[in-house]
Amino acid sequence: MPLVVWFGSYQKFNKEIQPPLDPRVIHPAPPVEFTGLYNPFNVEDKETLRKNVADGKEIYYRNCIFCHGDLLNGDGIYAHGFNPRPANFQDPGVLPMLQESFLFWRISTGGIGLPQESTPWSSAMPKWEDMLTDEERWKVILFLSDYTGFVPRSWE
Ligand code: HEC
Repeated sequence: MPLVVWFGSYQKFNKEIQPPLDPRVIHPAPPVEFTGLYNPFNVEDKETLRKNVADGKEIYYRNCIFCHGDLLNGDGIYAHGFNPRPANFQDPGVLPMLQESFLFWRISTGGIGLPQESTPWSSAMPKWEDMLTDEERWKVILFLSDYTGFVPRSWE
């Protein structure tokens, strides 16, 4: 009898560590209209840049905080209800690995804008182009970078 129990749990364990049959693509290629863009609000003038970051901060705390968290670590008050979890911008595998165009695309079109290879999964990431202007979406990217100290790839 103990052997049967042991075998049962072994089977269960074995099943849990199987890789997914069809792994989803977390960072798919953005559509052409969202490639090669640069942030028009990342300006040379320090004073204006500071103002743009401040605007971005306000946009973040009004719209993004609930999911991505007040520390930008993906731990907002709604985060626990979502699978996949909201992105953690404090993770060095996120902002430094992505281009600004990519971030602008993901913020603009959200979970619904993800291509086939990134499904099936239901991302709760909203489609911000319906709720925020282009200017606001670029400025919030400035804030993500300013707060975390991580620069998107296109800034190199
Ligand atoms: C209702 C919850 C929710 C809100 C509000 C939200 N997000 Fe998200 N976001 C998610 C989830 C869940 C993901 C992870 C799944 C995905 O990539 O679509 C995500 C992913 C992202 C990504 C992609 C990161 C990557 O690694 O590809 C970016 C960028 C992003 N969010 C920025 C924002 C910004 C900026 C705001 C505010 C304007 C915002 N999000 C508001 C839920 C949310």
